[in-house]
Amino acid sequence: MCGIFGIVTNKEQQLGPVLVSAAHSLTYRGYDSVGCATLHEDGVIDLRKDVGKVASVAERLGFDTMIGKRGIVQLRWATFGAPSQVNAQPHLDSDGDMVGAHNGNVVNNVELMAQFTAEGMTVRSTNDGESCVHAVERYVNQGYGMLEAIRRAYHDLEGDYAFIIGRVGEEQLYAFKKGSGLVAGIGEGATYASSDLPSILALTRRVVRIRDGEIVVLRPAGVDLYHVEDGQPIKREPELVTESMDAVAKGGYAHFMLKEIHEQPGVARELLHLYDASADIAPVVGKLRQARHLYLIGCGTSYHACLLGAVYMARLAGRPAIPILAPQFIPQYAPTIGPEDVGLFVSQSGETKDVLNAFHVGQRRGMGSISLVNVIGSTLMNETEHALPLACGYEISVPATKTFMNQALAFLYLALRMGGHNTGVLARLPELLQVTLTTVDAPVRALESRLVQRDDLYCLGYGLTYPIALEGALKLKEVTYAHCEGMLSTEFKHGPLSAVDEGYPVIFATGPEDVGLAVSGINEVAVRGGHTIAIAAADARLQANAHTTITLPDADPLFTPLLATLPLQLLSYYLGVARGYDPDFPRNLSKTLTVD
Ligand code: G6P
Repeated sequence: MCGIFGIVTNKEQQLGPVLVSAAHSLTYRGYDSVGCATLHEDGVIDLRKDVGKVASVAERLGFDTMIGKRGIVQLRWATFGAPSQVNAQPHLDSDGDMVGAHNGNVVNNVELMAQFTAEGMTVRSTNDGESCVHAVERYVNQGYGMLEAIRRAYHDLEGDYAFIIGRVGEEQLYAFKKGSGLVAGIGEGATYASSDLPSILALTRRVVRIRDGEIVVLRPAGVDLYHVEDGQPIKREPELVTESMDAVAKGGYAHFMLKEIHEQPGVARELLHLYDASADIAPVVGKLRQARHLYLIGCGTSYHACLLGAVYMARLAGRPAIPILAPQFIPQYAPTIGPEDVGLFVSQSGETKDVLNAFHVGQRRGMGSISLVNVIGSTLMNETEHALPLACGYEISVPATKTFMNQALAFLYLALRMGGHNTGVLARLPELLQVTLTTVDAPVRALESRLVQRDDLYCLGYGLTYPIALEGALKLKEVTYAHCEGMLSTEFKHGPLSAVDEGYPVIFATGPEDVGLAVSGINEVAVRGGHTIAIAAADARLQANAHTTITLPDADPLFTPLLATLPLQLLSYYLGVARGYDPDFPRNLSKTLTVD
């Protein structure tokens, strides 16, 4: 989740402080390296970059003292190439008269690097940001001007990214986008481009939002837009952003939770690109396959992902795995653990004390360790033998949403690989998530008014949807403060059925294979006056039996848990807001629990 920022001014000046301040505003995305480049009037490019935190790298390399008329800063979160000085961005072209940086992923990076080397260019790193620079260089070498070279390079670079580049002897910077965010700003004697609006709003409120397939040219006095397809200019008036910084940070949504719910198709896509290109997947899959006992260890939402992971691994790879709450791992299994065993530790923060305790106990007994973590540089990520990122960017809302989605998807991906299946089937998933978000919103909102006064409800699932029932119930508890229990649907008749009276809500998250079972459960509740709600793909049996149905798109049954998660997250959010609570910061809860 890299971030980029560029500035073009009308006179040579000390650009370092502006670049450092922009870097700080991009840090929320998570990063491992930072770099600044300034282009001087006399044709010199000053490039300084390294691995580390913005404040310490900036001080060590003297970013503040950097001068120029144009400048670029980039924060890198390693995807292609290890975190290192040479892989940090920005990057130079072969003869050092162009400099550029990107965010996002160029998925044909390896092929492109081989082509550039064969064509005689100087390739210095394994980072895909460098591919963007050489892709432009290739056409500049053939005699094209910058705009034309960028238009051609755009077609060579596959993936989702935004890119900014400058060349000595000119006064512009160029930026273009395909998938990732990009916005331009117009100030007094300066223009800007960034992956993130808030980094520009500190400097100007006149902005131009760049769309996919558009190139923006930053001049000191203004910005010009062109279509990448035909090179034709685009007329778009700048807009004045009047919202507060807080509102802008929420991306137009009322709360971070809602914004993060809607980010899920994007982060899922990013995770798939990342894993498809990652050299870390094969050794992790090998280790998961070979373990004598495989433990999937986490707390809260992350534990629910472990439960789902165990179902995926058994079904897709024939690999039994033991999902276990981290604090219970110690009293239950610690004495039996040995070096042939593997623990897969799942945590959004990578700092949860309960999870670290379990990890340290396993480590002392020689257990192999892998982590699945969102926060780069966290203790768990640093200390486990292998670490896979969740690539969600910063999750601000205390209730986890997008990180659960990518945990679930990471498990599905790993289970497919462990079973020797093709992960290509996952390519449709981001689009299905998007369709689901659009289609379930209205029926979920209709349900809100019926459920808002309820202080008790159940959320049931079976097989693949059992973990989702638990996660849905946890989300509802966290955000609405109501009592909501998640349970295996078939267990409901063994006790909780006694709670059902007129209007008592019971949600059934149901996969296509389990409709018959769900219909039985629905009728057991309905005949006792309960209000039954089915979350499932369209099915006449559910429509005929449940009082309310929330319809998911038709999809591979393996996707049901991920799709069914969305209406439960939205329901929690809308009910929490309707009950007058702040869904981002529920009372008594903390995003990262570093205590026992
Ligand atoms: C806290 C949070 C939960 C989270 C749990 C585990 O309780 O409030 O939302 O699921 O910790 O956190 P982790 O960072 O390890 O995933």
